[in-house]
Amino acid sequence: MSEQQITVRRLQDRQGANGATAVAHPNIALIKYWGKRDERLFLPWTSSLSMTLDIFPTTTRVHLDAEASDDEVTFNGVPAAGEERRRIAGFLDLVRRRAGLTHRAVVDTRNTVPTGAGLASSASGFAALAVAAAAAYGLDLDGTGLSRLARRGSGSASRSIFGGFAVWNAGNPTAPPAEADLSSYAEPVRTGDLDPALVIAVVNAGPKEVSSRAAMRRTVETSPLFEPWAASSRDDLTEMRAALLRGDLDAVGEIAERNSLGMHATMLGARPAVRYLAPASLTVLDSVLGLRRDGIPAYATMDAGPNVKVLCRRTDADRVAEAVRDAAAGGTVHIAGPGQGARLVDAGGR
Ligand code: PMV
Repeated sequence: MSEQQITVRRLQDRQGANGATAVAHPNIALIKYWGKRDERLFLPWTSSLSMTLDIFPTTTRVHLDAEASDDEVTFNGVPAAGEERRRIAGFLDLVRRRAGLTHRAVVDTRNTVPTGAGLASSASGFAALAVAAAAAYGLDLDGTGLSRLARRGSGSASRSIFGGFAVWNAGNPTAPPAEADLSSYAEPVRTGDLDPALVIAVVNAGPKEVSSRAAMRRTVETSPLFEPWAASSRDDLTEMRAALLRGDLDAVGEIAERNSLGMHATMLGARPAVRYLAPASLTVLDSVLGLRRDGIPAYATMDAGPNVKVLCRRTDADRVAEAVRDAAAGGTVHIAGPGQGARLVDAGGR
């Protein structure tokens, strides 16, 4: 028996089977991550902060297959191909290198959120994959280690390892990449008394035309607005932490809204421009202004897609959902609260 077969046998003995299943939820950033300073290591230019949701879970099962010559990946029962498959296989290579194993894996992912529509499916997807793959390959990682690992699949996934509010530290920008890699991970954020909801208006569930990866790169390389936004985003984060600690939902909302609009401005300044917002997105933004005029605190944030997420008090969520539903003309509306971090649900993998 080879070294590796012995290791896998040991894993099997420990887990009952050489597989694991994990669940993770998406997160929505209130201080955005936009732009990498190191594309290979997924090191961002700025730190970001998000709320993990209690809806749209992703469940991922990873099972090692000693006989297989390649990884087998399915998304909602359909075999993955092309770029999608390549990203998962590349991520598994990273896990294999760390575990000192070469066994291929069977990956089965079930997503309940539309993929690639700016609804953070990659965050829940890579957080669930990181937790399941680490367990299946026998890596013993704590929250920090899992967050660093998830980051290598999709930056925003680093934050979905944790529940509630989490901040992803950009890491030391002057350190050599290998050292900065160690300091760039997410961790929970302390908050005061908050009872927040995010009302999600899905105006278009189709996949985006430009991936966030390509759009970020173009923004960093060509937008004259990127550097000023990055500088203001660092200040926004400091103010956001203080507002969360005070439990000041209005300040949290105001900072989140300006941070997101600023991020979209950097994209509009790219050459050629990247524009994710659609006419229906602007109609929803108008409805948010209307709610505020009527005395209901509601604040919008948008990601790499046309869909709008509205932060409000939990007690106002139904009223906000109603206003947003009218504006989203034909779109669907979901209400989310703060959810749990990524976790293993089955270490047997069956
Ligand atoms: O990690 P990615 O490639 O899914 O990028 C996410 C980027 C935004 O959703 C726009 C912002 C964020 O911080 O989640």
